Amino acid sequence: MTIITTIEDLRILAKKRVPRMFYDYADAGSWTESTYRANSEDLQKIKFRQRVAVNLENRSTRSTLIGEEVAMPVALAPTGLTGMQHADGEILAARAAEKFGVPFTLSTMSICSIEDVAAHTTKPFWFQLYVMRDRDFIHRLIERARAARCSALVLTLDLQVLGQRHKDIRNGMSAPPKLTIRNMLNLATKPRWCLGMLGTPRRQFGNIVGHATSVSDLSSLSSWTSQQFDPALSWADVEWIKQRWGGKLIIKGIMDPEDARLAVESGADALIVSNHGGRQLDGAQSSIGALPAIVDAVGKGIEVHMDGGIRSGQDVIRALALGAKGVYIGRPFLYGLGAMGEAGVTKCLEIIRNELDLTMAFCGLRDVRDVDRNILLPGSF
Ligand code: FNR
Repeated sequence: MTIITTIEDLRILAKKRVPRMFYDYADAGSWTESTYRANSEDLQKIKFRQRVAVNLENRSTRSTLIGEEVAMPVALAPTGLTGMQHADGEILAARAAEKFGVPFTLSTMSICSIEDVAAHTTKPFWFQLYVMRDRDFIHRLIERARAARCSALVLTLDLQVLGQRHKDIRNGMSAPPKLTIRNMLNLATKPRWCLGMLGTPRRQFGNIVGHATSVSDLSSLSSWTSQQFDPALSWADVEWIKQRWGGKLIIKGIMDPEDARLAVESGADALIVSNHGGRQLDGAQSSIGALPAIVDAVGKGIEVHMDGGIRSGQDVIRALALGAKGVYIGRPFLYGLGAMGEAGVTKCLEIIRNELDLTMAFCGLRDVRDVDRNILLPGSF
């Protein structure tokens, strides 16, 4: 039996169990993948100050994100095609998050629909929206999210155009996979995945089906994206969406202090410092590198969250120490899902919480809400 103690263990198991094109889809960054790598590497450069002889009884990892109680300040990031890592992937991940007590964010580009996820969960989840040219369609998605009791809208602004990921092109990525000889040979080595998929009817893009004419492979998905996603998106659109939604709005994809200020002016309740996990602008700064200047610019008036490269509880603490109120994980939960379904997402969250709790203790703290720059070694960040 495989013993799982780290996120890396989950990644290795997922690689064995998930068809290559979907594993690569999750694992890829754009172009040279330099920003993807920098997200993790820059986190590792940040060192802690170890403290001793401090009372470490009764520790707490609990916090709040946009006013919602969370078991730890970590949320599941919106990820497209999650239902291709494992059958019913979005439902399983949402259920694991709900039981654990952290937010789940459903992507516009999910396989399971907003209604599918709502029908299989009891607590509100968050819905991520892309800005599309067809404003009626946006309006309908907002109404569907409202009807499903979503408690926040995460508006992603960094995908006016789609980043190019070489692996997806080489693999001829499509959902579901086309039955070429190469794919069939690969699928034959993934019996668990195939059996799971046979047992579920949900293999379509649940939120856009009906609206999309054809998104059966990557070329049609990228041409659909370039037809539908609005390259002329402006801050006025963000205000329009905020008005239509009326609830909590989290703006995702901010890497620049000036954009952070504009996000605040357009009515955001929180923003996410994110380079889309290194999948969009290759050559952009790492998210952790961008975080401090954005916190300095707007951190007093708004919650600043971040994502990109978080692979452990230590990384969560590093981001909190530099001013993030919370972080999101993308690939780590996808690896858990691909490796072991719902139990794998729970395992991922348990690993991170355990590491987070111990790291905070080694730094001499009992409450995660007390984490600040004082726990970091000067000169290492
Ligand atoms: C993403 N991301 C993403 N973001 C978003 O707003 N909408 C989406 O549909 C997607 N889709 C998506 C698919 C996959 C496979 C990945 C890996 C990522 C970006 C995601 O929300 C988040 O910003 C990154 O995943 C964070 O980086 P890590 O944690 O994966 O390193």
